[in-house]
Amino acid sequence: MVHMNLNLLMVIAVVVASTVLRGTTATERLVGGSLGWNVPNNRFFFDLWSINEGVIHVNDVLVFNFTTGVHNVAVVSLSAHDRCDGSSPFQLYPNGPASVPLNFPGLYCFISTIGSDCQSFMQMLVKVDNSTASV
Ligand SMILES: *[C@@H]1O[C@H](CO)[C@@H](O)[C@H](O)[C@H]1NC(C)=O
Ligand SMILES: *[C@@H]1O[C@H](CO)[C@@H](O)[C@H](O)[C@H]1NC(C)=O
Repeated sequence: MVHMNLNLLMVIAVVVASTVLRGTTATERLVGGSLGWNVPNNRFFFDLWSINEGVIHVNDVLVFNFTTGVHNVAVVSLSAHDRCDGSSPFQLYPNGPASVPLNFPGLYCFISTIGSDCQSFMQMLVKVDNSTASV
Protein backbone atom coordinates (compact mmCIF):
# COMPACT_ATOMS: atom_id res chain seq x y z
CA MET A 1 0.00 0.00 0.00
CA VAL A 2 2.75 2.39 0.97
CA HIS A 3 4.67 1.47 -2.18
CA MET A 4 1.65 2.03 -4.38
CA ASN A 5 1.12 5.46 -2.92
CA LEU A 6 4.75 6.36 -3.46
CA ASN A 7 4.57 5.21 -7.06
CA LEU A 8 1.41 7.18 -7.59
CA LEU A 9 3.03 10.27 -6.13
CA MET A 10 5.98 9.86 -8.46
CA VAL A 11 3.71 9.52 -11.48
CA ILE A 12 1.85 12.65 -10.44
CA ALA A 13 5.13 14.50 -9.92
CA VAL A 14 6.34 13.52 -13.40
CA VAL A 15 3.07 14.54 -15.01
CA VAL A 16 3.06 17.88 -13.20
CA ALA A 17 6.68 18.52 -14.11
CA SER A 18 6.13 17.77 -17.79
CA THR A 19 3.05 19.97 -17.84
CA VAL A 20 5.02 22.84 -16.38
CA LEU A 21 7.83 22.31 -18.88
CA ARG A 22 5.53 22.08 -21.87
CA GLY A 23 4.91 25.45 -23.43
CA THR A 24 8.35 26.76 -22.62
CA THR A 25 11.21 25.94 -24.88
CA ALA A 26 14.06 27.52 -22.99
CA THR A 27 17.18 26.65 -24.90
CA GLU A 28 20.49 25.87 -23.22
CA ARG A 29 23.31 27.34 -25.26
CA LEU A 30 26.90 26.23 -24.76
CA VAL A 31 28.88 29.45 -25.03
CA GLY A 32 31.73 29.20 -27.53
CA GLY A 33 30.74 25.70 -28.60
CA SER A 34 33.53 23.21 -28.08
CA LEU A 35 36.02 25.94 -27.09
CA GLY A 36 33.87 26.76 -24.09
CA TRP A 37 34.56 29.94 -22.14
CA ASN A 38 38.29 30.09 -22.71
CA VAL A 39 40.71 32.48 -24.40
CA PRO A 40 39.80 32.52 -28.09
CA ASN A 41 42.14 33.06 -31.01
CA ASN A 42 40.52 36.28 -32.17
CA ARG A 43 38.75 39.36 -30.92
CA PHE A 44 35.38 38.54 -32.48
CA PHE A 45 35.11 34.90 -31.49
CA PHE A 46 32.42 35.17 -28.81
CA ASP A 47 30.43 37.92 -30.51
CA LEU A 48 30.36 35.79 -33.66
CA TRP A 49 29.29 32.78 -31.62
CA SER A 50 26.45 34.84 -30.21
CA ILE A 51 25.37 36.11 -33.63
CA ASN A 52 25.53 32.61 -35.08
CA GLU A 53 23.14 31.40 -32.37
CA GLY A 54 20.39 33.35 -34.12
CA VAL A 55 17.55 34.75 -32.04
CA ILE A 56 18.20 34.29 -28.34
CA HIS A 57 15.01 34.42 -26.32
CA VAL A 58 14.07 35.43 -22.82
CA ASN A 59 14.39 32.38 -20.53
CA ASP A 60 17.15 30.81 -22.60
CA VAL A 61 20.18 29.77 -20.57
CA LEU A 62 23.82 30.40 -21.41
CA VAL A 63 26.19 27.71 -20.18
CA PHE A 64 29.74 28.98 -19.69
CA ASN A 65 32.12 26.04 -19.51
CA PHE A 66 35.37 26.97 -17.79
CA THR A 67 37.68 25.80 -15.05
CA THR A 68 36.93 27.38 -11.69
CA GLY A 69 39.73 29.72 -10.66
CA VAL A 70 41.14 29.99 -14.18
CA HIS A 71 38.30 32.09 -15.65
CA ASN A 72 35.01 33.48 -14.40
CA VAL A 73 31.91 35.12 -15.83
CA ALA A 74 30.77 38.61 -14.94
CA VAL A 75 27.67 40.40 -16.14
CA VAL A 76 28.71 44.02 -16.54
CA SER A 77 27.57 47.27 -18.12
CA LEU A 78 28.41 48.02 -21.72
CA SER A 79 31.02 50.59 -20.73
CA ALA A 80 32.61 48.19 -18.25
CA HIS A 81 32.64 45.56 -21.02
CA ASP A 82 34.30 48.00 -23.41
CA ARG A 83 36.89 49.05 -20.80
CA CYS A 84 37.42 45.51 -19.42
CA ASP A 85 36.48 46.87 -16.01
CA GLY A 86 35.53 44.03 -13.70
CA SER A 87 35.50 46.10 -10.51
CA SER A 88 31.71 46.29 -10.02
CA PRO A 89 29.91 43.57 -11.94
CA PHE A 90 26.13 43.20 -11.71
CA GLN A 91 26.64 39.48 -11.24
CA LEU A 92 29.67 37.30 -10.83
CA TYR A 93 29.80 33.57 -11.49
CA PRO A 94 33.10 32.25 -10.09
CA ASN A 95 32.40 28.54 -10.55
CA GLY A 96 32.46 26.68 -13.85
CA PRO A 97 30.50 25.48 -15.58
CA ALA A 98 28.09 28.37 -14.90
CA SER A 99 24.51 28.49 -16.10
CA VAL A 100 23.31 32.04 -16.64
CA PRO A 101 19.57 32.48 -17.16
CA LEU A 102 18.53 35.30 -19.44
CA ASN A 103 15.47 36.54 -17.59
CA PHE A 104 15.07 39.88 -19.28
CA PRO A 105 15.21 41.15 -22.85
CA GLY A 106 17.99 43.50 -23.83
CA LEU A 107 21.73 43.57 -24.25
CA TYR A 108 23.82 41.42 -21.93
CA CYS A 109 27.53 42.19 -21.58
CA PHE A 110 29.87 39.48 -20.33
CA ILE A 111 33.55 39.47 -19.47
CA SER A 112 35.95 37.35 -17.47
CA THR A 113 37.48 39.49 -14.73
CA ILE A 114 40.49 37.26 -14.08
CA GLY A 115 43.97 38.43 -15.08
CA SER A 116 44.14 39.65 -18.66
CA ASP A 117 41.27 37.41 -19.81
CA CYS A 118 39.14 40.33 -20.96
CA GLN A 119 41.99 41.94 -22.87
CA SER A 120 42.49 38.51 -24.40
CA PHE A 121 38.97 38.75 -25.85
CA MET A 122 36.97 36.90 -23.21
CA GLN A 123 34.22 39.43 -23.78
CA MET A 124 30.81 38.92 -25.30
CA LEU A 125 27.70 40.89 -26.14
CA VAL A 126 24.44 38.96 -26.29
CA LYS A 127 21.19 40.45 -27.47
CA VAL A 128 18.16 38.82 -25.88
CA ASP A 129 14.93 39.11 -27.82
CA ASN A 130 11.88 40.30 -25.95
CA SER A 131 9.78 37.31 -26.98
CA THR A 132 9.79 33.89 -25.41
CA ALA A 133 10.40 31.05 -27.83
CA SER A 134 7.26 29.75 -29.51
CA VAL A 135 6.48 26.08 -29.03
C1 LIG B 1 33.71 21.48 -20.52
O1 LIG B 1 35.10 21.64 -20.43
C2 LIG B 1 35.75 20.46 -20.01
C3 LIG B 1 37.22 20.81 -19.81
O2 LIG B 1 37.76 21.35 -20.97
C4 LIG B 1 35.53 19.38 -21.05
O3 LIG B 1 36.17 18.19 -20.65
C5 LIG B 1 34.05 19.14 -21.20
O4 LIG B 1 33.81 18.23 -22.25
C6 LIG B 1 33.33 20.44 -21.53
N1 LIG B 1 31.89 20.22 -21.53
C7 LIG B 1 31.15 20.48 -22.60
C8 LIG B 1 29.68 20.25 -22.42
O5 LIG B 1 31.61 20.90 -23.65
C1 LIG C 1 9.21 43.77 -28.36
O1 LIG C 1 9.96 44.65 -29.17
C2 LIG C 1 9.24 45.11 -30.29
C3 LIG C 1 10.20 45.90 -31.17
O2 LIG C 1 11.02 46.72 -30.40
C4 LIG C 1 8.05 45.94 -29.80
O3 LIG C 1 7.31 46.40 -30.90
C5 LIG C 1 7.17 45.06 -28.91
O4 LIG C 1 6.12 45.83 -28.36
C6 LIG C 1 7.99 44.46 -27.79
N1 LIG C 1 7.16 43.49 -27.06
C7 LIG C 1 7.21 43.38 -25.73
C8 LIG C 1 6.37 42.30 -25.14
O5 LIG C 1 7.92 44.09 -25.03
